[in-house]
This record gives sequence, structure tokens and C-alpha cells, in this order.
Amino acid sequence: MKMLIEGGTVIDPAAGFEGPADLVIENGKIAGIVKPGAGPKDSEIITAKGCIICPGLVDIHTHLREPGYEYKETIATGSRAAAAGGVTSMACMANTNPVNDNGSVTEFILKQARAYAVVRVYPIGAVTKGQQGEALAEIGDMREAGAVALSDDGSVVADSDLMRRGLEYAKTFGLCVVTHSEDMSLVGEGVMNEGFVSTELGLPAAPHEAEEIMIFRDVTLAALTGARVHIAHVTTSGGVQIIREAKKRGIAVTAETCPHYITLTDDAVRTFDTNTKVNPPLRTQDDVDAVIEGLADGTIDAVASDHAPHVNDDKEVEFIYAKSGMIGLETLLPLSLALVEQKKLSMSRLIRALTELPAGIISIDAGTLKTGAGADVTVFDPTEEWVYDVSKSLSKSRNTPFAGAAMRGRVKLTVVGGKVVYRDGTIV
Ligand code: DOR
Repeated sequence: MKMLIEGGTVIDPAAGFEGPADLVIENGKIAGIVKPGAGPKDSEIITAKGCIICPGLVDIHTHLREPGYEYKETIATGSRAAAAGGVTSMACMANTNPVNDNGSVTEFILKQARAYAVVRVYPIGAVTKGQQGEALAEIGDMREAGAVALSDDGSVVADSDLMRRGLEYAKTFGLCVVTHSEDMSLVGEGVMNEGFVSTELGLPAAPHEAEEIMIFRDVTLAALTGARVHIAHVTTSGGVQIIREAKKRGIAVTAETCPHYITLTDDAVRTFDTNTKVNPPLRTQDDVDAVIEGLADGTIDAVASDHAPHVNDDKEVEFIYAKSGMIGLETLLPLSLALVEQKKLSMSRLIRALTELPAGIISIDAGTLKTGAGADVTVFDPTEEWVYDVSKSLSKSRNTPFAGAAMRGRVKLTVVGGKVVYRDGTIV
């Protein structure tokens, strides 16, 4: 089985390649990047004229809601939304029901993924039992079952001593800990960022320091334990600065941000659209600028979707009662591409933040088009303009503030292990 994707520009930051080229796939593996027109003609030929051919995107922060909340999303539906977004590998958070805090839940997720997912699914196990922050979860058991990282995301490991022990165990098992860095005692009843907008709206709010205090704690514990810490969804200028300093000191810390934190500010909450309610909250323009700068200089390694599906019942309530989160798999790439359009990030830096670097953070074999690698490929047209019609989303949920928004850059083809799983708007 040979496939030739031709006529586009290949960008593979991991291999240091960028230029007009064709991609040859054979038996589910990358057989090579060749000069335009030099690929084998006895292949299935896919034209990628005007498009970018890059490694399949790796999204290390999603909530697939299975087991327990299948009415919001399942591994099957989440994986279809991923394929439509050009995502070929994704890690899913442990805040399911039951929580993924032991090997049998991890195994269940992988079993469902093998049976129903159209992209690769990598479970993240909880740090603490039931994500209750009281006792460590079955870390070795989950590792053995296939967990790629640990996180209490959706909740926070508030107890610093327990976090220290979790990091020590994680290190022993070669796992990284993905933190949800927010001091919930300082967040209190806050439902948005504390500042001008919250004052005008009269909504209870939380200061950005709530995030910064915990990022500082988490990088400090990384230094103490020597464990690998990955800071999820960084949103504040102060947080970026703490991570930058930590990296300078040689601490094993990586970080991610999400498309909504680099495209929206707390101004979006003025609509009272509950889809703008996320955890941590949307911040100010100064924060957005600092986070983008952090991405550009490598302080922030990766962009992840934090795809967090919720149903109408969770969102069609007063702002203070609404659940936090927005779906994001299908808009991950076009929203991020805005930074390239605005010349704040180079195309190859963005692709690296969506492929090679996140793959490295969760230590999976993905994110490159090197010869011999599994043929996970995304082809997108960086200039196609389209409108996000969320009623056609492949996710089960519809909670996004980007419904009806104009997008630039569209995924045309998603290939997983040499098989086309999505092409021109349709799951294959
Ligand atoms: O907004 C959020 N939603 N932040 C989280 O940390 C969890 C997530 C969810 O699970 O809905």
C-alpha cells in the first residue's frame, strides 16, 4: 500500500525540513520526503496543491468524558472531532467518572480507543485517588496499563506535600506531571479574571496571582524532586515570567497554552456567553501578548486545545452557575494560525508547538515525518477562509464562543498510520 501526497509544502520541524516536496507513505510508515514529482507513480496519489503537509497534530490536553459523561462526549466522537481538526494523537484527562486513577480505568479507555477511535488516544492518569487531593492514585498500575502522564486537571493538587510525593513517584515511573496550577483558595467564588471587566460586570472574580502562586510552587517542587513538570494552560504574564526563569535555572519544566488564551481576552465575557467561562479564566490583552511572546521565545513549548465538552444544561444557566470549558479540537489549528498571519510566530514554530514538542512532553513516538516514523500526517490549506458552523461539529457538544466565527486555515486531510481518516469535511 503506497500513498503519495504531492504538490504541497512539507514542514517537519523535527527533521529540520521546510520546502516544496512530496511525501511518500508505505505500509503505514513514512517512506520519505522526496523532490516534487519524484515520488512513485504506482501509489494512491493525493494532491495537496497550495497546502502544508506536516506531521499529524499532537494535542496533549483533551477531555473525552468517557467513562461516565458519555452524553457530553465519547472517545469515538471526540476522536472524530480530533481527526477533523488534524489531530492524530491526543492525550485525555483523568476527570472522568470513575476518575482514571487506576489501571482498570486506563485499560478501559485504551480498549474503547482501540474499538472506536479514529485517531490515537493516550490516557493521562490522576495524581490522587478520585482527584480528591488526599492520597496518591495507583501510579505504577496506571503506568503499566498505558498512562502517558499524570494530572489532576479539572481539579488541583492543593497539598504541597502530596504534590511532592506525586512528583517523586512520577519520576520513579518515568512520567511527567501535568499541573493545573491555580490556588483555589484564592480563586474562591471567582468565575472570571479579576480586573476592570469583572468590576464593570459585577461578577465574582479571581486575581491572576492565583495562577502564578501555583506555577511558582509547581516549578519549585520540580526543582526539589527533579521530576518533570508540565504546566497546563498558562494564561498570565507573571506565569510566563516564572516559567522563563525556571527554564533558565535548568528546572525540568515545560508549558502549554491554548488557542482561546491567545485569541480572546476577558472582554469576551461582556457578552455573558457562558462559553467564555473557562478555567483558568480569559485574561487581559497584556497577558495575551506575554503568552504569545512566551510561545515565540520557547518559554511555552506547546499549544493544546483543552477540548472540554459540556452540554446545554451545563451552559444555559447564569454565568456563575455554568460549567467551565469549551470545545476546541476543530478550532485548534485555525485559531493558532492567526498568530502566523499576524507575524507573531513563524509557521514552523507553530507546527513544532503542535507536533514535535507536545509529543516529547508525553514521551510518545509521534510528531515527525522522518523516514520510518508512523505515517500520521495532516494536510491543511493555510489561506482557506471558512465559517465555523458548530451545528456540524463532530463533537457531541456545542459549547464554543467561536460559533459562526470566521476562520482562516483549514484541515483538508488527516492520515493516521497511513490510513486516511478525514478528507475534505468527511470522516472516511
Ligand atoms: O475549563 C475547564 N474545563 N478547565 C478545566 O480545568 C477542566 C475542564 C473540564 O473538564 O471541563
